[in-house]
Amino acid sequence: MQKASAHEMSASCRMRSVTHQISKLIKVRHLPKEVTMIFKQVAVGAFQNFSYIIGDEKTKTAALVDPAWQVDNLLSLCERLGLKITYVINTHSHHDHIEGNQKVAKLTGAKIVMHEKSPTPKDIPVKDGDIVEVGSLKFKVIHTPGHCPDHICLLVDGILLTGDTLFVGECGRTDLAGGSPGDLYDSLFDKILPLQDDIEVYPGHDYGSKPSSTIGFERANNYTLKPRTQEQFIRFMTEP
Ligand SMILES: [Fe+2]
Repeated sequence: MQKASAHEMSASCRMRSVTHQISKLIKVRHLPKEVTMIFKQVAVGAFQNFSYIIGDEKTKTAALVDPAWQVDNLLSLCERLGLKITYVINTHSHHDHIEGNQKVAKLTGAKIVMHEKSPTPKDIPVKDGDIVEVGSLKFKVIHTPGHCPDHICLLVDGILLTGDTLFVGECGRTDLAGGSPGDLYDSLFDKILPLQDDIEVYPGHDYGSKPSSTIGFERANNYTLKPRTQEQFIRFMTEP
């Protein structure tokens, strides 16, 4: 059975020469007036991480999600777009997602937003259901423990940033410190899968056959999301 964990996969995929990068402008759906969301998925570092720049074109403010590697390039990109980073938001506190936090904060004055359980330095602790506003954009915090206790996913106008909770065709590993397959089951099956099929999934690593997906595609194709009881899922995640 191919039950490769996310981080095991990173070792096996590290030499891939093609890196994905997505850049698009998205009309925000939830506002009466048309507001344009600037969305950039940027492949960074040696572990196939994705960082995200998500900004409001009108106010020229943006959030930088999971800045770990190649921070100078990310900031140059923001500058070229005319965006001021007001928040750094981390999906979780693993080093490959937070390594660049302090540098970004120092250079831009951005506040660092993380789940309240995160053990690393932050300015704004958040919890499940909180909203982080960036211009007219509203980032809804969904607490999804399992990969680690402080993991959050971020839902912003039909886009779900899933960090290391859910990848394209895979789920996050649960055998690191604080990991819990039972919690990951609850996060995936009670919080993520009930979302609408057309919600777009943008993961924290480029481990899949494509750089992004949808809830509907993952529900239909991701072998880790096949219907299971929590007990069966724990066995699935822990048995060799
Ligand atoms: Fe992680």
